[in-house]
Amino acid sequence: MNRLTKYANLINDLKEKKGGIIEAFHAIEKEYSYLPEDAIVEAAKTFNVSTAEAYGVATFYSMFSVKPRGKNVIRLCESAPCHIAGADEVFDALKRELGIDVGESTEDGLFALELTECVGQCQATPVITINGKAYLDVNPAKIPEILAEYK
Ligand code: FES
Repeated sequence: MNRLTKYANLINDLKEKKGGIIEAFHAIEKEYSYLPEDAIVEAAKTFNVSTAEAYGVATFYSMFSVKPRGKNVIRLCESAPCHIAGADEVFDALKRELGIDVGESTEDGLFALELTECVGQCQATPVITINGKAYLDVNPAKIPEILAEYK
């Protein structure tokens, strides 16, 4: 199946839906971990908007990436409650373990590291999410074990 057919399969059902392009981008990201240029062009056609508008949507939301990135997207919460609870140490552990900095992906394409604002789990800080799944009360010692789930 070529890529365009694959995109069409992912997004055609959303054509009539209000805000469907955002759902479509989520579906594409789930598959590719970012929004390839030709997928954005295809979505623009499907949702009958200009390519510029589709790019606007793709770049407006921080959860979308228009650059290739690792398959499993790790986000570290940097809002105040997580920060106070030791998010910095967790961040250092992640950087050490993965050998990358924020905004980068590992060479094997397995992980991408990003920051996020509060994800609404402040009762158990610090918090990281991996592909949207939240890990609560994280500390540096837990990082290798958490990452192992995705290897
Ligand atoms: S401040 Fe980190 S989850 Fe709310």
